[in-house]
Amino acid sequence: MSQLQTINFVLNGQQVNVSMDDTQQSLLSFLRDSVRKTGTKEGCNEGDCGACTVVIGKANGDKVKYKAVNACILLLAQVDNCEVITVEGVQGDDGALHPVQQALVDYHGSQCGFCTPGFVMSLYAHYRNRLPADRQTLKDTLAGNLCRCTGYGPILAAGQAMYNYPEPKGENTASDAAVLTQNDAQIQNSTAEIFSPKTEEQLQELLQKFPDATLWAGGTDTGLWLTKKLQHLPRIILLGKIATLNFVKDRKQGLSIGAMASYSDVIGIIAEKWPAFGEVIRRTGSTQIRNSGTIGGNIANGSPIGDMAPILIVLGAKLVLRKQGQQREILLEDFFIEYGKQDLAAGEYLAEILISKQAEQLEFRTWKISKRFDQDISAVLGAFSWEDDEDKIANMRIAFGGMAATPKRAKATEDVLRDNIVTEALLDKACQALNEDFTPLSDMRASSSYRQEIAASLLRKAFANKPVSLAKADEVSS
Ligand SMILES: Cc1cc2nc3c(=O)[nH]c(=O)nc-3n(C[C@H](O)[C@H](O)[C@H](O)COP(=O)(O)OP(=O)(O)OC[C@H]3O[C@@H](n4cnc5c(N)ncnc54)[C@H](O)[C@@H]3O)c2cc1C
Ligand code: FES
Ligand code: FES
Repeated sequence: MSQLQTINFVLNGQQVNVSMDDTQQSLLSFLRDSVRKTGTKEGCNEGDCGACTVVIGKANGDKVKYKAVNACILLLAQVDNCEVITVEGVQGDDGALHPVQQALVDYHGSQCGFCTPGFVMSLYAHYRNRLPADRQTLKDTLAGNLCRCTGYGPILAAGQAMYNYPEPKGENTASDAAVLTQNDAQIQNSTAEIFSPKTEEQLQELLQKFPDATLWAGGTDTGLWLTKKLQHLPRIILLGKIATLNFVKDRKQGLSIGAMASYSDVIGIIAEKWPAFGEVIRRTGSTQIRNSGTIGGNIANGSPIGDMAPILIVLGAKLVLRKQGQQREILLEDFFIEYGKQDLAAGEYLAEILISKQAEQLEFRTWKISKRFDQDISAVLGAFSWEDDEDKIANMRIAFGGMAATPKRAKATEDVLRDNIVTEALLDKACQALNEDFTPLSDMRASSSYRQEIAASLLRKAFANKPVSLAKADEVSS
């Protein structure tokens, strides 16, 4: 595969060609340090505060799709063939302020101003995508932007008012999708390499040659390996250009999700089929994280507190794993072997996640428990599915995140409930069985006893409308 030294993208309307001297450089560092676009701020450098928010445009058919992302955990190489809009590129007609900016001024949406460029960019993406300006949609848009001094009331008011200003005339002509799809890049320098294959065949060849290379999907976990763990990654393979990994298909057999589909790509269809699952996705990270982070990355990282795994486990999801010339399917619950160890061979990658059509018929409940409602990692996530067999519970499946070293099924608890009529007494027994299934850790998110208690509460909540009196249970079973 050819090795190139440069990437191309459109920055605030100007085509730029950048020599990749530092393969580990973030987009934020490039903007601030290399081209002195210092309007984009650095706060946390880990995707949490939104000060570094920029808008990325990517070709999507013959259109360009715009989304807000965190520049601090995005590799510069990830924006090859994209359009990048920073706060310096947001303006109205003839040098006037853009409606988003004017509304923030008029509604007093800024005090010290450090967070303001990030808010402008999140609201700009909202405006550009013509999302509704109701408070809840705006809150979802802004959940990844922290402000310490203004307070969110005036910022939300600005968001609600931004469509009342005249729309800038040049707004939708910023870039041409054709410009954004021209080049492919392989970048190499003396200390590190980045590959950006366009097909799975190229990916498989690369993985055969370099089985220990770091696969980089959205970068919302791996980005922090660079910015917080200060690691040096000698060989990175970007997955972002492989179209066959980036899809969501609602097939006759069920839902098929490419490993590179982002949370934003899947939330619509998932919320339609399983509203409670959609709600968990809405609370996964922030808009910026959901725009970059992928479902595949959340599973492949093997995290015991990843939000997708317990839910997908109770829905009976399967994984499609591929490596040079081979493909296998496994149940997601068998993927997690122990902490930090997944059933993924050297050179193998996650290609697809499959949820069968039958999963749409299941009784299904899930809740995420975290210290903050938005933009927080779970302390505990509980997921429950079953089928009603007259008054009895059939095919009981329960899985938790945050309760063990991996996302895990509660098999002893399931055994108590399976093929039984739910009574208060049975629920008491099932809650006891949770102690057999899990011995959770105490950490900064929650203590062990809190985790045990909340898991039991979620179990009771799952069956809140179910328990019948013992007399009724006797009547049913006799
Ligand atoms: C501010 C912030 C908030 C967050 N909030 C949440 C939250 O609420 N809930 C939650 O669960 N997570 C959260 N996360 C974690 C993260 O966003 C998710 O785990 C995300 O889904 C990771 O996906 P990614 O595409 O960014 O993966 P990456 O960071 O690119 O990769 C993650 C891991 O998976 C591997 N990998 C990626 N794709 C593949 C593949 N196809 N095959 C094999 N290996 C692969 C990578 O090598 C790496 O080890 C948060 C992160 C941040 C920074
Ligand atoms: S600097 Fe805080 S999210 Fe990027
Ligand atoms: S205006 Fe000061 S942090 Fe938001």
